[in-house]
Amino acid sequence: MITPQQTAQPEQEKRLAARAALRWVRSGMLVGLGSGSTAAFFIAALGESIRQSDLQVQATATSLASEALAQQAGIPLVEPRRGLRFDLTVDGADELDAQLRLVKGGGGALLREKVLATASDYLLIVADSSKVVTQLGRFPLPLEVVPFALPWVLDAVAALGGAPVLRSMKNDSMEAARSDQNNFLVDCHFEAVPEPERLALHLQGIPGIVEHGLFLGLAQAAVVARGAEVLVLQPGKEPVAAASFSIPL
Ligand code: A5P
Repeated sequence: MITPQQTAQPEQEKRLAARAALRWVRSGMLVGLGSGSTAAFFIAALGESIRQSDLQVQATATSLASEALAQQAGIPLVEPRRGLRFDLTVDGADELDAQLRLVKGGGGALLREKVLATASDYLLIVADSSKVVTQLGRFPLPLEVVPFALPWVLDAVAALGGAPVLRSMKNDSMEAARSDQNNFLVDCHFEAVPEPERLALHLQGIPGIVEHGLFLGLAQAAVVARGAEVLVLQPGKEPVAAASFSIPL
């Protein structure tokens, strides 16, 4: 079990995990690019690698923000189309447990993140040690919600014990935050989610929820940095040092 580093330096850990994920990338791959600060470090490192070597990849991003970063980094992008499958998607997470069940969407990109995770043969999570938890739920679970349906979604989530809060913009305007699809984002304070699969089923049955931030059975591995140590986690297995991990791609 990984415990967060006492003197955690999340930014340095994020950078380390993101750089270690480059080992999963092979020339010719189609790569999904995640969202958030750890994924941003990966995008920058991938761009650098493309510029400094003969590495050739194409990519699609999970948010407009990551798309802009990829363009700046010189990563060739492809538009969504039928039949497109990704060899690898590298993305961050807000929480991950020992089965690599995830909470995602702190950055509001959960819908596109789940679309690409599902269209990928291998989802690799990159994270700092603070993201590893024994039980999901302390981080508020994000939902993407169609604006018309908001009042009923709030009622239904409250009935499930999720204490929903409509996310507002980070500035002081109190204006509701919008996803890249122009939908609302709702953060649900369950505090503990002992049965994520059961909760996911409930949420999938509520009309107006476009997507929820529980990513279950999607991640193959996670690269987690704890201090200067970088480990690879796989569902239900003991952590392995990233340097000695044999990459199955
Ligand atoms: C974006 O919507 C999220 O799913 C991010 O992947 C998640 O919030 C992790 O973000 P950081 O890498 O910034 O911690």
